[in-house]
Amino acid sequence: MSDILVTEAITGREMEALRSAFSVAYEPELWKSPERIKQILPEFKAIVVRNQTPVNADLIGAGKQLRVIGRAGVGLDNVDAKTASEAGIVVVYAPEQNSISVAELAIGLMISLAREIPAADRSTKGGAWDRKRFMGGVELYGKTLGVVGLGRIGFLTAMRARGLGMNIIAHDTFVNPDSFMVSECRAQLVSLDELYQRSDFITCHTPETAQTIGMFNDAAFSKMKKSAYFINTSRGKVVDEDALIRALKEKKIAGVALDVRAKEPPAASPLSEMDNVILLPHIAAFTNEGQTRVVTSVCKDVAAILNGQPAKNFFNFPTPRRA
Ligand code: MLT
Repeated sequence: MSDILVTEAITGREMEALRSAFSVAYEPELWKSPERIKQILPEFKAIVVRNQTPVNADLIGAGKQLRVIGRAGVGLDNVDAKTASEAGIVVVYAPEQNSISVAELAIGLMISLAREIPAADRSTKGGAWDRKRFMGGVELYGKTLGVVGLGRIGFLTAMRARGLGMNIIAHDTFVNPDSFMVSECRAQLVSLDELYQRSDFITCHTPETAQTIGMFNDAAFSKMKKSAYFINTSRGKVVDEDALIRALKEKKIAGVALDVRAKEPPAASPLSEMDNVILLPHIAAFTNEGQTRVVTSVCKDVAAILNGQPAKNFFNFPTPRRA
């Protein structure tokens, strides 16, 4: 029996350590062939993925020897953690290791939208020196930032925004209003409707759940200020992209930055043709520091399980519950 199957590009010192301590099948492109994964999975004790391998009930069912599923990231939307738990398989992930990177990118995107940095860069590299065209950006200072989802990343984004002189309002149905997170970033908790109506910038940091899928729809965009900028570095499916395109065409909002998409990689979209839209290929977490922390944490936890030790960053339980 082999030990570990890695189906996406996950590199770094701790992955090398894992590869020298265990027998690892490192197949960074295998996520593209779920059928092949299902075929070979029965011989492995661990599978390590990012967000592109669908670790669904079907795959988990095939992993008869699986003891641990390692998710090199925070989002578990591609891992059926419920089925894994029922099967007694430990799910380990990186709940906070890339949070700073994502928060920093959210701030970067806010400034990029406010000052049209990508468009100005394209114009200047194209040979123009068009100062008039780029007159009229806005400052973040004194503006209201609406944070949807005041978890770790939302909180870190809010703290950085405070440093820029922004006022913070937030919506989160799970956060305790008396918590340190709320008081530390001096956030005013408001309803979603109030957040839409008052925010100059809206940044989304919710996980993908049945409740959040499609929450940014026609009704949501209609409630926002015409001058509002919307930033999504969480999960693509929270945005109804057709509604977003309509909102931009009808000038219901001023601009958008998306690091994540409903379908990744996305199909051709009118969003790519719009000057007030910034599109990135889901890279918010991809800093050297963030990735070092993520890969170290997940590889160490997978090694711990295979060595009969408890995991530290587990989603369900620290040791396998199957024979
Ligand atoms: C995460 O969930 O950690 C980030 O979105 C990056 C990823 O999906 O791998």
